[in-house]
This record gives sequence, structure tokens and C-alpha cells, in this order.
Amino acid sequence: MKDISQITLRSGAVLPVVGLGTGNIGSRVRKPGGSREEVHTAINAALECGYRHIDTATLYQNEEMIGEVLHEWLSSGKVKREELFITTKLPNNGNRKEDVTKFLKKSLEKLQLSYVDLYLIHCPVGTKSDDDEVAYPLDSDGAVILDMTTDLLALWSAMEEQVDAGRAKDIGLSNFNSQQIEKIMKVARIPPAILQVEVHAYLLQRPLRALCQRHNITVCGFMPLGAPHRAKETDEFPLLLNHPVVTEIAGRINVTPAQVLLCHLLQHDIVVIPKSANPQRIKKNCQVFHFELTPEDMAALDALDRGAESRVSNLLYYKGITRHPEFPYHLPF
Ligand SMILES: NC(=O)c1ccc[n+]([C@@H]2O[C@H](COP(=O)([O-])OP(=O)(O)OC[C@H]3O[C@@H](n4cnc5c(N)ncnc54)[C@H](OP(=O)(O)O)[C@@H]3O)[C@@H](O)[C@H]2O)c1
Repeated sequence: MKDISQITLRSGAVLPVVGLGTGNIGSRVRKPGGSREEVHTAINAALECGYRHIDTATLYQNEEMIGEVLHEWLSSGKVKREELFITTKLPNNGNRKEDVTKFLKKSLEKLQLSYVDLYLIHCPVGTKSDDDEVAYPLDSDGAVILDMTTDLLALWSAMEEQVDAGRAKDIGLSNFNSQQIEKIMKVARIPPAILQVEVHAYLLQRPLRALCQRHNITVCGFMPLGAPHRAKETDEFPLLLNHPVVTEIAGRINVTPAQVLLCHLLQHDIVVIPKSANPQRIKKNCQVFHFELTPEDMAALDALDRGAESRVSNLLYYKGITRHPEFPYHLPF
């Protein structure tokens, strides 16, 4: 029987289709009141209930704490390295050919790993920062200090070198638009295995997913629960977790609204990386293989899609970012 809890990437690597998103987990660590314990609790809870796919990024500033937990699990033999799928991402201030190796080596040191399973370019927009830890440096007006010389093709060749050097098993893109993906595909010696973009019931990304399917690129959806901590709620568009279509299905088949939203994307062959720092929710969010949504339920959820206007992660909170030549959201997809 086909194992629906994992898929095979174009490289042949096997990826668990539900991963733990770790954006915001422990991100207060560098600020008063932050907690390393939050990261340790979440990663331990996830590994204990069977997650083997973890999504992090230099930007999230939690690689070191994740690495501590991974080290403990790997060194005690509770898990083998080849059973894990660890993703991290090149920050915007590393979007230069000559900086990729440095940033990936730093990530590997923090994660206490000799390789990552997937290294993504986090965002096509490049910035210039004096501090490697600051991906979005600001000038005195509060505008992002952009690197207007970003060369995505040169950057991709440096990403390919990471595979050659054994530091990344696979490489991919995040927050790239259709034109940028096509541009990379024209020259890629090692094509992107994954595109990680915002996907949820309000933003199903149909055209971008069709393009990825044509190029054999697997789509990984971030914010699969609709990012309830960030999304704007209106009477017409409630938070997805509270949407009557979602709660009705959840009640009827006795699962949580989050499980409905995740199952909806999984049945569209979208890999999901829900974030939770709460052990009970972490556990529930990976229990999505014991039920199936009917074609009618899928159609009702599909009908919630309202396209690009529902994008939560539009980058516009970074002042001046639209001036960058590679700002991805001038195009509808
Ligand atoms: N590549 C990119 O540019 C990019 C951008 C954004 C995100 N990401 C990645 O995608 C991951 C997921 O995105 P996201 O964290 O923004 O949004 P999300 O996963 O859609 O939503 C996370 C929020 O939902 C809550 N939640 C989780 N499970 C729940 C449940 N069962 N019931 C009710 N609430 C629940 C979480 O709170 P609790 O923690 O309290 O449970 C958290 O506030 C990130 O963590 C990150 O790894 C990537």
C-alpha cells in the first residue's frame, strides 16, 4: 500500500508531507522574556509524536536551539540522521553568490549537522547588512537597506555548489514568482526540488502549483492554517480555523478545524508545515492520515479560495521593499 505520509522528490529523496514549522518558536529568545525552553519543548514533542520533517531558517534565530535537541536525539540513537528531513533557508542578506557557503556553514554549525536535507533561498529580494544575524537591516527612515544588484542566476549556481559539496541534499526556492521560477529552470543544472510559498484555503495558488507540476517541483505550503496569529479577520473572511465551512466539516467527521485545513492541502498534494509551540496541537496536527475529505468537502473548501488579495505574507511590512527589482508580488503569481 502506498505510504501517504511521505512523498518522493525529483532527486529521489523522501519527504514526510507534514513537517513542523518553527517560525516564531523561540524567536523571543534574543529579547527579554524569550525562551529556549519553548524550542526544546516543541521539537521534543514533535519528534516524540513522530514528526521527522522540521522547517527552520536563519531568519527564525532558533537553529541553535533546534540543533541542541537534534543532537540529543541523534547522539542517543533515538533517531537516525537519515530518518530526519531538516530544512533551513538562506537569509535575504546572504543573497549573493559569494555568501551562500558562509551562511549555510553557519546554519550547519548551529544545527550540529553535517548536511541539511533542503536548503532554500528564503526570498528573492536581497538586502545589505553589516550584521549577518539581521536579514532586514533598516536605514534611519525605517526602510529596508536593499541590495539592488541581486543576481538570481548567479545565486542559484552557488546553491548548486552546496549540493556538490554535500552540505545540502536538495535545494529549492521560497517566495519566488512564476517568472523567477522559469528563469531558474532555464539554467538550472540541479533544478529546485521544492517551492515553499504561502498556501491555505484562502490562497490555493492554483496557477503557481500548475507551473510547479509542469517542472516537477514539489510545493510546500507555509501558513497552512491561514496564520491565525497574523491574518486580518473580517466578517466576510473570518480566520480559516473559525470559518463555518471548516468547522462544519470538522464537527461532522469529528476532527479539529486544523486537521481539516491540513488534510485539504494534503489531498491536493501540497506538503504542509503547520507551526505550533503547543505539544497537544503539535500532536493533533500530524494526525491527518486516518480520515479523508469527500469530493464534496474538497469542493466546499476549494470554493474559499480568493487569490492573491488574501496573501498574508506580502512583505509590505518591510518599508521600501517593493523598489527591489526582484520583489516577487508585482505579478499576481
Ligand atoms: N518561507 C517563508 O517565507 C515562510 C513564511 C512564513 C512561514 N513559514 C514557515 O511555515 C510555518 C507555518 O506558518 P505560520 O507559522 O506562519 O502559520 P500557520 O502554521 O498557518 O499558523 C500557526 C499558528 O496557528 C496556531 N495553531 C497551530 N496549530 C493549531 C491548532 N491545531 N489549532 C489552533 N491553532 C493552531 C499556532 O499557535 P500555537 O503555537 O500556540 O499552537 C500559530 O499561532 C512557519 O512556522 C515557518 O516554518 C515560511
